[in-house]
Amino acid sequence: MNLEVTQEKALELSDVHVTIRGSHILQGVNFGIEPGVVTGLLGRNGVGKSTTLRSIVGLVPRVGSIKLFGKEISNLKAHEVIRSGVSFVPEDREIFSTLTVLENLKLAERDKQPNYDIVYNLFPELLKRKNQRAGTLSGGQQQMVAIARALLNNSNLLLVDEPTKGLAPRLVTEVADALEVAAKSATILLVEQNLPLVKRIAKNIIVMDQGVVVHSGSPMDLENADFAQRMLGVSGGSH
Ligand SMILES: Nc1ncnc2c1ncn2[C@@H]1O[C@H](COP(=O)(O)OP(=O)(O)O)[C@@H](O)[C@H]1O
Ligand SMILES: [Mg+2]
Repeated sequence: MNLEVTQEKALELSDVHVTIRGSHILQGVNFGIEPGVVTGLLGRNGVGKSTTLRSIVGLVPRVGSIKLFGKEISNLKAHEVIRSGVSFVPEDREIFSTLTVLENLKLAERDKQPNYDIVYNLFPELLKRKNQRAGTLSGGQQQMVAIARALLNNSNLLLVDEPTKGLAPRLVTEVADALEVAAKSATILLVEQNLPLVKRIAKNIIVMDQGVVVHSGSPMDLENADFAQRMLGVSGGSH
């Protein structure tokens, strides 16, 4: 007897293409991610990781199929994708620097009962600084605001683009802790260059090169120095 159990994917991209101003950036991206875990999206600079996240959210014109828990979302506008329970933390954070921390959080409220407890428990620093203008925060604190905005709402899927870029080691740990807490209630697709962090929190990895997915597997694959060098141009094994 053939008892094949196929678990529904949290997110499934099939043959996704993105062309921007004549440049064919995503050239048929295919991958699926498991619900309830962190999946790392890796690859050298410029291979299309950020564009992949933007295509999921609907910020760039895309062709192909994108399914969120089985529901086709590639035809939805960005605000409709967000309303279906997707939260996006973009690479450049995009916080409002002239507004206070609390005002930034208020603007991100999507649910009827936004969960401020989870945010302030995770980032007590933000509670202390809730009336401070976001532009005067450190880079790490601004990243906390960006992640906090996503955690306020109950998300099915959290897309996070290079959250530790440019952060001091202590803040990298705080961001990793925050993502681990977030992973308890949401599925996370995480673009991240920090391989030790990926090994710590990701269950699966997807590697892109030149607009397509070239590998799907386990973070353990990064232990292989040849693999890391070939796929990412870094020495991944030891650190
Ligand atoms: N808005 C855009 N207009 C033109 N080219 C873009 C745009 N966004 C990204 N690209 C190009 O698409 C490629 C992939 O970019 P990106 O998705 O940001 O890569 P990654 O996040 O992996 O570093 C790069 O060559 C980049 O220059
Ligand atoms: Mg990027």
